[in-house]
Amino acid sequence: MSTQNILEKHAPERHNILMILHDLQDHHPQNYLTEEALEATARYLKLTKASVYGVAGYYTMFSLKPRGRHIIRVCVSAVCELKKSESVIAHLESTLGIKTGQTTPCGLFTLELSECIGQCHEAPSMMIGQAVYNNLDAERIREVIESIRNQG
Ligand code: FES
Repeated sequence: MSTQNILEKHAPERHNILMILHDLQDHHPQNYLTEEALEATARYLKLTKASVYGVAGYYTMFSLKPRGRHIIRVCVSAVCELKKSESVIAHLESTLGIKTGQTTPCGLFTLELSECIGQCHEAPSMMIGQAVYNNLDAERIREVIESIRNQG
């Protein structure tokens, strides 16, 4: 879907800016907002480029640089921290061969941290895209990553 098609799914009103930026980012295979997308959004909403860049830069859910096809977000809020989210991160880093904040060389995964994702009762938890994974341990992490790798 082209940038213009994505923009036109939304009324050209300023209060739609977050939905538009989400939609543009979600449709990019590298999960980020390109310069072209930000400039097109500014024109569409009749805003300055600086204000659109300001919004995109303010929210941590938006990325201005290319990321992997699957974004892994490990919860590091209080309950998950108590349930050893640092060991979840360590397992993911060793399984993927990257550090937090990095993307695998194959472009499949980016590893990020997240605030509470509302799964405290089954912590430690993470999201990959929109899917939630709970009660994580080394074995579960290996299974999840393997299954996504096998899907390509
Ligand atoms: S603290 Fe991790 S899901 Fe709530």
